[in-house]
Amino acid sequence: MTASRSALRYHSQLRQAASERQPETHPLTWRLRDDGAVIDLDEYVAKDGYAAVRQVLSHQSPEEVIETLKTANVRGRGGGGFSAGVKWSLTLKGEDLPRGYVLCNADEMEPGTFKDRLLLEQLPHLLIEGMILGGYANNARFGYIFLRREYVEAARVLTRALEEARAAGWLGRDIAGSGFDFDLALHTGAGRYICGEETALINSLEGRRANPRSKPPFPGQSGAWGKPSVVNNVETLCAVPAVLRHGAQWYQDLSGERSNDGGTKLYGISGRVKRTGLWELPMGTRGGELLDRAGGMRDGLKLKAWLPGGGSTGFLLPEHLDLALDFDTIAKAGSRLGTGLLTVVANNQSMVSLVRNLEAFFARESCGWCTPCRDGLPWAEKLLGALERGEGEPGDIELLERLAADQGPGKTFCAHAPGAAMPLTSAIEYFREEFAEGIAPPGWDTRLDPVPVDESRGADEGTR
Ligand SMILES: Cc1cc2nc3c(=O)[nH]c(=O)nc-3n(C[C@H](O)[C@H](O)[C@H](O)COP(=O)(O)O)c2cc1C
Ligand code: SF4
Repeated sequence: MTASRSALRYHSQLRQAASERQPETHPLTWRLRDDGAVIDLDEYVAKDGYAAVRQVLSHQSPEEVIETLKTANVRGRGGGGFSAGVKWSLTLKGEDLPRGYVLCNADEMEPGTFKDRLLLEQLPHLLIEGMILGGYANNARFGYIFLRREYVEAARVLTRALEEARAAGWLGRDIAGSGFDFDLALHTGAGRYICGEETALINSLEGRRANPRSKPPFPGQSGAWGKPSVVNNVETLCAVPAVLRHGAQWYQDLSGERSNDGGTKLYGISGRVKRTGLWELPMGTRGGELLDRAGGMRDGLKLKAWLPGGGSTGFLLPEHLDLALDFDTIAKAGSRLGTGLLTVVANNQSMVSLVRNLEAFFARESCGWCTPCRDGLPWAEKLLGALERGEGEPGDIELLERLAADQGPGKTFCAHAPGAAMPLTSAIEYFREEFAEGIAPPGWDTRLDPVPVDESRGADEGTR
């Protein structure tokens, strides 16, 4: 059973042995086993599991929990890097207000991203513990785990873990004798990338079409069913128990001088390297160290470019490998840390084809609400397809740049279109000559041949 699951799990493998992972240095993964088996309730509790819930519910106020998260500088691991403590402090609270929800974003559909899957499939109780603490701090009595539909193994594991936690009294009424009630439900999405955008997630959870909602109001003011709701990524919520158990200073020290962002991060790498996979490393680890851990590029290949954190981030070059992989440093270099899972591009890969493939994904996943996204992305995909076939026309590159500029921040309802524009603009910036090679020589007829009309067929047949 375990062997076949390991074989199925392709990229989402932790590449650090259990002997390399300690509670003091690897708060997310130290409990994981080398055989990839699920950490069930008994094993989780034996490994200090639910100790943070017991400690916090009896000794700390929700305000103290939020202050600790702020000081620790836990930044959201879903891609945006927003401070979890600040987000939790902005959620409307008060006995006179309707109680809200804690929502876990487990939609993980970002191209090149496979980190939440590891935690969901092997360490479900860590997420449940983080969500209980989120409920306590945000005055919520109920939460939902919004799970990507294709993660069927995670759904199975989570369903079992929720039953275990409920039977043992970690979910339900009067948790650990504290008087605090909290329960959780698992909700599987219908398999659309846009459901990962937090307000589209809420619409989808409510059974509506998964369009993003206009903000304000933010989910913390009016979220699921109009109640204050906090939406956090799986990895963010999984970081919470250790922060509260060991304190803000301990968490800050994990990243130390490397970064102002606290803690560790599940970094990963995919593409033409020797070993794809995941590593839990201090926040601010350099890209070059990650590439070394992956064994470098496959034999005979050289690194040409890399995406730092999923398909909606901007390409960087080999010379950027010395940068700390944290939110501010990567933003200063013109990209985004995103999910922190690197996609490497080798010298024998075409940037035009890579970007065409990404834009095809983003075009297909647009919810269709804003014109620059709904119409601009398929248009960009078509232009890139022509360049890929060597059938581009003079002006196509400039047109692509104009389309991308129209998709920039603030021009659309959500961050889908700006995210789609990032790999396109950065690829043109760094590899313009490759795009120019796709422009057909002067005099070249790039129009498709008209379909010949068969006069001998009847009108009905012809239109079929
Ligand atoms: C198109 C799009 C897709 C997104 N997909 C995800 C996702 O799969 N998982 C996720 O955690 N955040 C995703 N986000 C970010 C969420 O909107 C939100 O910022 C995040 O869940 C907040 O959690 P965090 O603060 O813990 O990072 C997406 C955003 C956009 C615009
Ligand atoms: S940017 Fe795209 S995905 Fe986002 S709301 Fe507009 S059309 Fe929908």
